[in-house]
Amino acid sequence: NGGKFVKYDGFWIPLEILRPTLSTQKYFKAKDSDIILASFPKSGTTWLKALTFSIANRNIYATIDQNPLLITHPQEVVPCLEFNLYLNKENPDLQHFSNPRIFSTHIPFKSLPDSIRESECKIIYVCRNPLDQFISERQFVLENKIQNDTVLPLKLEESFDMFCQGIQVTGPVWDHTLGYWNVYLKNPEKVLFLKYEDLKHDITFYLKKIAEFLGCPFSLEEENQGVTEQISKLCSFENLKNLDVNKTGYFTGVMKNSSFFRKGEVGDWTNYLTPAMAERFKNIMESKMEGSEKDAVPLEFDEAF
Ligand code: A3P
Repeated sequence: NGGKFVKYDGFWIPLEILRPTLSTQKYFKAKDSDIILASFPKSGTTWLKALTFSIANRNIYATIDQNPLLITHPQEVVPCLEFNLYLNKENPDLQHFSNPRIFSTHIPFKSLPDSIRESECKIIYVCRNPLDQFISERQFVLENKIQNDTVLPLKLEESFDMFCQGIQVTGPVWDHTLGYWNVYLKNPEKVLFLKYEDLKHDITFYLKKIAEFLGCPFSLEEENQGVTEQISKLCSFENLKNLDVNKTGYFTGVMKNSSFFRKGEVGDWTNYLTPAMAERFKNIMESKMEGSEKDAVPLEFDEAF
């Protein structure tokens, strides 16, 4: 039963993701040059994939129109680690990827394969206002009719109740985010911590930040040539959504390519959730964050009322 949620290693996952997660923990051997894009689902992973791939490979594709993102869905350009290891059971070292290998993962920091935590590889984490994340995930599951204990066939109120208990793919969200946040605070060379809302606010600033973090900062010459603008335009919601490759077809046979590009906005939760629901979640979040840095998760609740 694919949609059944189980608790493993302190976090919630659908049973069908348990085996890929165990394979990842067991087999994946990180290289120092690897780049791992970590996120809670529906927090901007697809966008981060497009940005990081374009930054890291900008010298390979001399002009922007050679970038494979124009003809390949970002989910395939940067594969999900769990899913790939599961598919590559016979050949789990994944050595055939070109350098730097870029993978995404939703696994919480403390449950990552040891080699990711122990090697010199870099991790970029992106988080998002959990209320927007919750709505994005719900819409995604409904759109793709994915069997999922926490969404189908539940009403919004019931689904929200589970969300408040932390029952979501790789939830609770507060543990997930704090796990990466705490490593970032101790070792900012290892983890770059980004927020979806900040990327929306000033993409050029964060493009440069990602490039610096990866040890390949943009040169003055590149900036004068407008390389940062070209990358941010290529990876923009409007551009990616409207590319032919992202309008049709399926990712892994069940998720519509187009469903990874829904609205791409900040604050869409206000169209679905009541102020009382938001207040309830805000209180939970605050109690979970007690004793840690308060701005670990963007809590932009107030602007809506
Ligand atoms: P919405 O459902 O709120 O529109 P993930 O990639 O982690 O699955 O997250 C998907 C969310 O990121 C969706 O949010 C999607 O629309 C949004 N998104 C995808 N590409 C984006 C981009 N280039 N810029 C901004 N948001 C993007």
